[in-house]
Amino acid sequence: MLIGEAPGATEDEMGRPFVGAAGRLLTMTLESVGLPRSSVYITNVVKCRPPNNREPREEEIEACRPFLESQILLLKPRIIVTLGNVAGRWIFAHAGRSWPGVTKARGKVYNFRILDLDVVVIPTIHPAAALYNPSMRNALVEDLRKVKEVLDSLNRGVEATTSAPRARSLLDYVKRG
Ligand code: URA
Repeated sequence: MLIGEAPGATEDEMGRPFVGAAGRLLTMTLESVGLPRSSVYITNVVKCRPPNNREPREEEIEACRPFLESQILLLKPRIIVTLGNVAGRWIFAHAGRSWPGVTKARGKVYNFRILDLDVVVIPTIHPAAALYNPSMRNALVEDLRKVKEVLDSLNRGVEATTSAPRARSLLDYVKRG
């Protein structure tokens, strides 16, 4: 599950998150690390576009809280990727932690308990920051690569604990005599 800040103009018109220029960069970067957009769930902290694209206010974040909490509770994501400061601060607050800022937190892997769920949280920069500052694109790629790595290792863990016992081969019977 990826969490952004708030819809931009294009997202507001289309009713879908990250479908504008920053969204195209996010989709391309996800795909480049082996995470097709169809394999992830993307949403925002705030569900309506704040006027003039300003940062959402505390009361707007609070008004949208039940929606994002419900999304998390319904999806039960094993990994949450926060995009930028607003989403990072929201998730850290829900884990009872103070937000160190995106520069310090990005690319790190945090094991949090959020809404009674064990969740791996990996903060990264907001794709709009990478769009307007190309030198930051590597950071986004690196962090999403880390997400793919962690997801693969979680999936390997699930396979190891849920796979059916190996079918017996003739050798098993021979060994037993
Ligand atoms: N920026 C966001 O934070 N969310 C979107 O959906 C689009 C741009």
